Amino acid sequence: MNPLLSRLQPYPFERLRELFAPITPNPAYAPISLGIGEPKHAAPELVKQALTAALGSGLSGYPATTGTPALRQACASWLQRRYGVQVNPSTQVLPVNGTREALFAFAQTVIDPTRDGATVVCPNPFYQIYEGAALLSGATPYYAPSDPARNFAVDWDSVPEAVWARTQLLYVCSPGNPTGAVMPLDEWRKLFALSDRYGFVIASDECYSEIYFRDEPPLGGLEAATQLGRSNFERLVAFTSLSKRSNVPGLRSGFVAGDAAILQQLLLYRTYHGSAMSPVVQTASIAAWNDEQHVIDNRAQYRAKFAQVTPLLASVMDVALPDAGFYLWAAVPERWQGRDTDFACELLAQYNVTVLPGSYLARQAQGLNPGQGRVRMALVAETAECLEAAQRIVQFIQSNP
Ligand SMILES: Cc1ncc(COP(=O)(O)O)c(C=O)c1O
Repeated sequence: MNPLLSRLQPYPFERLRELFAPITPNPAYAPISLGIGEPKHAAPELVKQALTAALGSGLSGYPATTGTPALRQACASWLQRRYGVQVNPSTQVLPVNGTREALFAFAQTVIDPTRDGATVVCPNPFYQIYEGAALLSGATPYYAPSDPARNFAVDWDSVPEAVWARTQLLYVCSPGNPTGAVMPLDEWRKLFALSDRYGFVIASDECYSEIYFRDEPPLGGLEAATQLGRSNFERLVAFTSLSKRSNVPGLRSGFVAGDAAILQQLLLYRTYHGSAMSPVVQTASIAAWNDEQHVIDNRAQYRAKFAQVTPLLASVMDVALPDAGFYLWAAVPERWQGRDTDFACELLAQYNVTVLPGSYLARQAQGLNPGQGRVRMALVAETAECLEAAQRIVQFIQSNP
């Protein structure tokens, strides 16, 4: 067996299942889960129609890993409309079967485990795939803490020079999961300077980019690079997905864009891995990328929901509307003294609401688990259900003074 497999950590939901196993939720309440970050709004009709229409011819041939020119063009045109960014669809865009597999494949492509101390830096808390990708590539993850005092921006300055010097890959997540924080241009400037100095590649996970609550849409990595005169996107690849933008997590469709030389190597890796996208999914994806109205409607639904739920919860716990994403990243009240797992267990037992303990989304590093004392609440269900959950959480906190 590959010995690196034993270094993988259990997934947060596995740990949650174990944590909750001895608990009998209060049967007076129907279960509501704010645990899993899976989009629940309806999938757009136009995507379903394109998918079924493509069945006629779409199953009879092997697809190319590069995807069709039409799909790559649709992705490039979307980047142009959304970010004002110019990419060459033949060399700077590659379709992927959702960003999860691509984020994983990326580390396997760019990491050279034979170089001393191969290191992957990622935020803390973070999306667990970054860690697994780093470990299976033979690298060691280094966790950079997010700072609640600065809107959960990652404290890149806390990473020692010696760590940057052996870093080969940096994962960033903007808008962040679970914090919802969006990286401003100055943060990008800092990271590009570090990448220039130390030669590491930046993987920019942007799968929540279309669900935002401020007036201006989140800045993208390629957009930041363009604004800073780095229009070849050297050592930068952005990861974008339809899962959240278009409510189609089951479609498994996204794309990566950026540094052409890196994408060429990623294409080589993916060709052997067998990661080509089904032609049926490619056709549906073109329809999705070419339509913006369903994305605007989807965002409006999230905005209305967050506008109702956030103030309710903010009346009993430290929580605020995030920049973007579909999570609330809340501090558990003082009574629980930072014990986020106890908070989650007691809430389930008394009110049958599931939230994810923040410590399960982060690692203990440099003497601190920056997720500890927080819970993540995914507001993915319909507004009425999220409101009901919020009302129960208010009651729960008020009845446990
Ligand atoms: C931060 C982050 N990145 C990537 C993904 C993967 O999304 P997908 O593979 O559906 O594109 C998720 C899914 O929850 C996520 O939260």
